[in-house]
Amino acid sequence: MIKAGICGFGGLGHVHANSLWQLEGVKVAAVCDINPEQLARKEVAFNIEQNANQFDISGSRTYTDFKEMLAKEDLDMLVIALPSDLHSPYSVMAMESGCHVFSEKPMSLDIESCNKMIAARDATGRELMIGQCIRFWPEYEFLFDAIKSGRYGKLRSLIMERLGYHSLKDPNNWFNQPERAGGALLDLHVHDVDWVQSTLGTPKRINASGVMRENGGLDDSTSIWNYDGMYATIRASWMYTNPFLMAFKAVFDDATVEYSSRSTPTLTVTSAESLKRDEVEVAKESAYVREMRYFLECIRGERKNTRCTAESSRESIRLALLEKEAILAGI
Ligand SMILES: NC(=O)c1ccc[n+]([C@@H]2O[C@H](COP(=O)([O-])OP(=O)(O)OC[C@H]3O[C@@H](n4cnc5c(N)ncnc54)[C@H](O)[C@@H]3O)[C@@H](O)[C@H]2O)c1
Repeated sequence: MIKAGICGFGGLGHVHANSLWQLEGVKVAAVCDINPEQLARKEVAFNIEQNANQFDISGSRTYTDFKEMLAKEDLDMLVIALPSDLHSPYSVMAMESGCHVFSEKPMSLDIESCNKMIAARDATGRELMIGQCIRFWPEYEFLFDAIKSGRYGKLRSLIMERLGYHSLKDPNNWFNQPERAGGALLDLHVHDVDWVQSTLGTPKRINASGVMRENGGLDDSTSIWNYDGMYATIRASWMYTNPFLMAFKAVFDDATVEYSSRSTPTLTVTSAESLKRDEVEVAKESAYVREMRYFLECIRGERKNTRCTAESSRESIRLALLEKEAILAGI
């Protein structure tokens, strides 16, 4: 039985407790949050319904101090679901104490701290995987297979969108502190940066524009990535006052594949020959369960982590930071 710990028991801590609860051969032995109220919280609100509240941690020990948890527990793995500026130092501490680490995205907010995580992984021989949940999202897996198989011909253009709202009313909310969260660019947009980068590779050229809000956050941006014979437009916003939306439109020579989390049906393929639009059914299982199952298989030695390496997550941070430079140059 794998003994798991969770550090940071807010939204994503609850989501991962839920995934671990559903998976076999693992138990949540300990949970840590600096705020004891979070440890008592049963329910969390989350932008995409993923049944995040279906678990019972009444048998888990609770801590408000991470170092005390590491000292007292004999954990095999740790889930880091902390504010983003803490991912690197807490992941390093966890690996150095012998734990495999599953840490939330973004990997970190700068390359130097990503490098520290990779160095700790190499020095300790532990697994390090970043929670790039979109790589495991069934609709995005469908698109990945469509691109790699070439079954709709060549991909010509891709639009990725991720739109939500963060009010700036509460300056104490760490999401509104760019030095802690990285603004929408490194928090929200990085999901699609990571998916496009891990699917299509590093682009030949990046153009990006965006706006900075009063708190210094780059909270609305559009970037265009150029590849040989195709381009991707990646757009994100924390200033979009409608319910959360994630979507893509992929134009191939022989078909257009479209997904929108707010449409019915959500995923369709329209043939270029007949113009007939077909609904596509994909697995209903949560991407958070799928990514955690993959991580467990890696740490049990049942597979090598080829699908979500730390190096690949670091490349996503590098590209997002290049976009940031381009946006700042244009403001
Ligand atoms: N993969 C996804 O779809 C997704 C979605 C949302 C957020 N995230 C990421 O997950 C991470 C957490 O986001 P969230 O929405 O759960 O935030 P949150 O604010 O809801 O939760 C963070 C928790 O960490 C706790 N905390 C802060 N400092 C601590 C410390 N030193 N020791 C112990 N606990 C501490 C806070 O009290 C809080 O409960 C972020 O990096 C975010 O970018 C990922």
